[in-house]
Amino acid sequence: MNIRILTNAEQVAINCAMLIASQVINKPNSVLGLSTGSSPIRSYEYLIKWHQEGLVDFSSATSFNLDEYLGLEPTHDQSYHYFMQEKLFSKINLKQSFIPNGNTENTDEECINYENKITSMGGIDLQLLGLGINAHIGFNEPDSTFSKSTRVADLAPSTIKANKRFFENADDVPKKAITMGIGTIMRSKKILLIAYGKSKAEAIRNMVKGDINPMVPSSILNLHKDVTILIDKEAASLL
Ligand code: GLP
Repeated sequence: MNIRILTNAEQVAINCAMLIASQVINKPNSVLGLSTGSSPIRSYEYLIKWHQEGLVDFSSATSFNLDEYLGLEPTHDQSYHYFMQEKLFSKINLKQSFIPNGNTENTDEECINYENKITSMGGIDLQLLGLGINAHIGFNEPDSTFSKSTRVADLAPSTIKANKRFFENADDVPKKAITMGIGTIMRSKKILLIAYGKSKAEAIRNMVKGDINPMVPSSILNLHKDVTILIDKEAASLL
């Protein structure tokens, strides 16, 4: 793991955006793994800016998102389809982008098809990850085993609590999601994880200093050969 502790969230955002932009500049037909949540928003703003300035062209690149809530229409303002459209896709020129369909009748088929689609595109070149306060990645919550592939996952109570700030009331937060599995994430060629703020400090410490343990889902990243972690001083405060 290459851990870089940066001065503040803004530095995390710009460095993250630079790594994504260089990936696409070096390999225009890159397959990017993208994430939602508040953490990547500022990086997406940089990518949009650099694209508008003519510095990065995404027209040969493809993206796959990590996850989507189960049961939300893509037009729901808290769906990850809506988020990605608003925060990135409508403002850059990706060749194609995929997000799990959380509104499907047949979740098993959706998960298999999503996993196969990633494989058929040659796998993910660079996977961007945020980090849950319980150290989840995607919606892979603390569990007794590491999950292999894209699947339906139950959200942990702490995740529902953390994500309720985006919904009108706590009962509106979906309880399940389709998520890439830990195996899917680990098959990415490169991984870039970003986190900032005090609320992530414990998860960062457990990921970096603790044992590799499915109760700390992101701890598996210690076994990946090309992981970059960008965190600010606050997220690094317990290291
Ligand atoms: C969500 C998403 C994750 C995200 C995490 C952190 O539940 N499923 O992919 O990384 O929580 O979110 P935030 O960046 O808002 O702290």
